[in-house]
Amino acid sequence: MTAEQKTRIAEFLDLAGAYLRSGYKSQTLTYQFADDESAAPMATEQAVPQAPLVETRPQAIAQSDKRSLAISNAEAGMDTLEAIAVDVAACSACPLCATRTNTVPGEGVSSPLVLVIGEGPGENEDKSGRPFVGEAGQLLDKMLASIDLSREKNCFIANVVKCRPPHNRDPLSEEIAVCASFLTRQIALLKPRVILCAGRVATQAMVKTTNSIKNLHGHFIECAKIPLFPMYHPSALLHDPTLKRPSWDDLKTLRARLDKLVALKA
Ligand code: URA
Repeated sequence: MTAEQKTRIAEFLDLAGAYLRSGYKSQTLTYQFADDESAAPMATEQAVPQAPLVETRPQAIAQSDKRSLAISNAEAGMDTLEAIAVDVAACSACPLCATRTNTVPGEGVSSPLVLVIGEGPGENEDKSGRPFVGEAGQLLDKMLASIDLSREKNCFIANVVKCRPPHNRDPLSEEIAVCASFLTRQIALLKPRVILCAGRVATQAMVKTTNSIKNLHGHFIECAKIPLFPMYHPSALLHDPTLKRPSWDDLKTLRARLDKLVALKA
């Protein structure tokens, strides 16, 4: 057995122990084995300083350990979209959990051509648990349909945060950071050919930039080896109809790229 395989087993046992002992917060351990080809010292254990637990109810601690297990499942290629939705529903990692009605993990096909990423649920999405179902969502569906895309046929629709920010404010960078592992897991599973970012907040979060959506829209950016295409948020088009023309041009650019990708695969 290789050192890497033994390390995986040791990490799994550590997580399993953490899961069984509700109340225990898993430490990060570094394992080495005496017979490892490259290893001289034995089993060094690094006690990493513990972040204070914000939430101390046993239930919440068990949830944090479940999250560790879910992430290790994701690494082991055993993750599912349903498991992510369950983890999102159980999440209490940021204050948005206190004001949400429903979590909104996302919806669509499981092998999408396009993953659409918005900023976060609004009032209608919070009520229904589904992404982009309000006025902006209906416009998004029309925009997608104009280039032969839909959540029923070839898209998955998600958001950078899965709970509604109160009063439709922008999600805070800490909220986006805490929620990011869900989107990372979704992208790993969905393997979209293109990511379509709706609006400034989603684009800036995904590309890690402060550049404006005015500068970014309509140009492909490589994001973790997936072409990412920023566009104006449909709600911006509802407020400012002059954005409709450039958005239509952007949709045509996107369709041309998708046609090329599809032709390459055929
Ligand atoms: N706006 C978003 O960014 N996402 C939604 O799900 C709805 C509106």
